Order: sequence, then structure tokens, then C-alpha cells
Amino acid sequence: MKPVACIADLKAIARRRVPRMFYDYVDGGSWTEQTYRANSMDFDTIRLRQRVAVNVSARDLSTAMVGMAASMPVAIAPTGLTGMVHADGEILAARAAERFGIPFTLSTVSICSLEDVARSVSSPIWFQLYVMRDRGFVEKLIARARAAECSALVVTLDLQMVGQRHKDIYNGLSSPPKPTLRNLANLATKPRWCLGMLGTKRRGFGNLIGHVEGLGDTVSLAKWTDSQFDPSLDWDDIRRIRDLWPGKLILKGVLDPEDAAFAVQCGADAIIVSNHGGRQLDGALSSIAALPDIVAAVGQKTEVHLDGGIRSGQDVFKAVALGAQGTYIGRSMLYGLGAFGEAGVTKALEIIRKELFTTMGLCGVTRIDDIGRDHLIFPKPIG
Ligand code: GLV
Repeated sequence: MKPVACIADLKAIARRRVPRMFYDYVDGGSWTEQTYRANSMDFDTIRLRQRVAVNVSARDLSTAMVGMAASMPVAIAPTGLTGMVHADGEILAARAAERFGIPFTLSTVSICSLEDVARSVSSPIWFQLYVMRDRGFVEKLIARARAAECSALVVTLDLQMVGQRHKDIYNGLSSPPKPTLRNLANLATKPRWCLGMLGTKRRGFGNLIGHVEGLGDTVSLAKWTDSQFDPSLDWDDIRRIRDLWPGKLILKGVLDPEDAAFAVQCGADAIIVSNHGGRQLDGALSSIAALPDIVAAVGQKTEVHLDGGIRSGQDVFKAVALGAQGTYIGRSMLYGLGAFGEAGVTKALEIIRKELFTTMGLCGVTRIDDIGRDHLIFPKPIG
């Protein structure tokens, strides 16, 4: 097998190893996937300012996100169905993150339950919360996150309704997959994945099954999300959640400076500039394009983080240079997980760390806090 040198290599292997339904779920964006593509393309339009003959022998990547130490400005993003990309996926990714010294965020729609994941690591995890119609259930989830000693609550704001991802419809996405001929034919080509799944009991939505009435064992995510996500969610709900949660509160899915200001008023310790990986409002700004105005609006009052399009250490560098205190990787982690399980997540993190380390050196900077706009060039047309 060709050696793995970058995140794209992990993606190619994950594509072969993960059943189509779950690979497509990870890789898909909504409607035309314009915003999904823009998340990466807009990073590519920014250039780095190379500097030479600076002594960069002592470089330090360490930093903090919401006051918690991180070995680099990268956290694991909350991603749904991670335990379907690889058996026990959330546990494996949380372990890799812990060993690496970076925060791990567990999704509400994970396969492994928050109790299971919290138990498998010794440092506290972060928990991502969807605000569902059943507010009693939301309160119970918050109480469970407190009992499991999660150190931050990441509340997602941009999924009041689901942005349609065509491939999930074509594939009849459900967890676990329904035993249709098409699914069985595809699973037959993924023996490693099947073996892993046979060895675990965790095959449904761990945070929901047994906790939500009327939720069967095989759940169509789209159907459930359509019925549960709440278009009435507003800032008053967020203030109530602030009152219920004593730990760090991170608000995810902010793309507009005015919304960022509301988030600060609600007591957010950080906001995540995010378009849900291009999976919600197709046509919205890319995360990196939205970042500078949000940093200008609220960067003095709260931490600004970014997720969306991070596929390399250079991307992390650019986001930090534009004012992000930290970044999150979703797909980059999932490609590693789908390719090689826990070792693959570690590999993804190593790749990004090495790229960031080298990029800092070649830009003549030795500390994360010293990375700034000065290290970037926004090229004008040539000639
Ligand atoms: C859920 O978080 C999704 O984007 O599918």
C-alpha cells in the first residue's frame, strides 16, 4: 500500500473501507454542495508569507481553547454517526484525541453514548447539544453531560431544520443500515468494517435509544431529525441553557457578526464560526470567509473558533492568522477513522501537527499567539 502522507490519502482509503451509505454521509454537503466546496477553496485563495533566515529552532504549538490546554489549536468536531464509520468510532477518536492532548467533542447523534465515551478516557470530553422539540429530553441530556463531567457544552445553532443532502436520500441512510439487497451487496465488499461491527453492540444512536420514546432500533436520521429539530429555537432558549450549564458554553454555527454579538450577550465563552461543514445552508459563506468580520465584531469579548474546510496544518495556520483561537476537524478525523480506526485518527492529527509545525517555521514564527494577519498574503491578479 502507498504510504499515507496527507489527509487526502486517508480519505482515499476511507472511501474504499467504509460502506457507501456512511462514507457519503460524511462526505456530503447540502443541495449543490457549493458551500461545502467553498470551505476548502477559500482557504486555497489565501497565500502564506514566507520568511527566511529567522531562528525558528524552538517552535511551540501549544495553546488553550476556552481556557483548556491544547497541544495545538485543533479540537475534534462533533460529527454524527461516527460509530458507523468504524465500530466504536467515537471511543477510538476520543482516545486518540486524549493521547494527543486536544479536546474531543461528542455529537448528540453519536453511536456510542456520552457515558460510554466519557468512561473510556480520563480527561473530560466536550458534549455537543442539539436543541430538540422535546425540551424535557434536552434538559435530561444536559444533566447527563454534567453527570459525565463534560467540561464544555457545544450548542449547535444552525440545525433548526435539516439541509437536504441528496446522497443520504439515494442511500436510504439509517443506523444500522437496513438489510436491503443494495446495502448487503455493498457491505459484502467491506469485510473489515463488518467484522468490527459484529464485535460491538453499539450500532444505534447511543444518546437517544432507550431515552427517547418511540425511537426504534433502526433509525432513519433524516426522519428523526425532521421530526425533532426545532424551528422555534431562539436566543431565549440559549439563555435558559446558559442558566442550566455551569461549565464552558460554546455556541456553534455562527456565520454573521450580528448573531455573534447575540451569542456574546447570551454568555458564550466561545463561538464557532461554522456552516456545519457545508451541510446546512448551501450558498452560505465559507467559514474562513466569514471569520474576519466576526473576529472584528466580537473577538475582544469572546473566543472565536472555526470549523469547516480544515484539511491541513496550513489551513489551521490561516484560520489562526485571521483570529481563530482554535479550529475543529470533522471530516479530516473521520477519514483517518474510516481508514485505520484509532491509529488513523492519530495519523490525521500527526499529519496536521507536522504541517503546522513546518508552516510556522517557514513563515518565521515560533509561537501560536504570534501568528497574525501579517503572515498572510491576499494575492491580487497577476499582471
Ligand atoms: C448532523 O450533525 C449532520 O450534519 O448530519
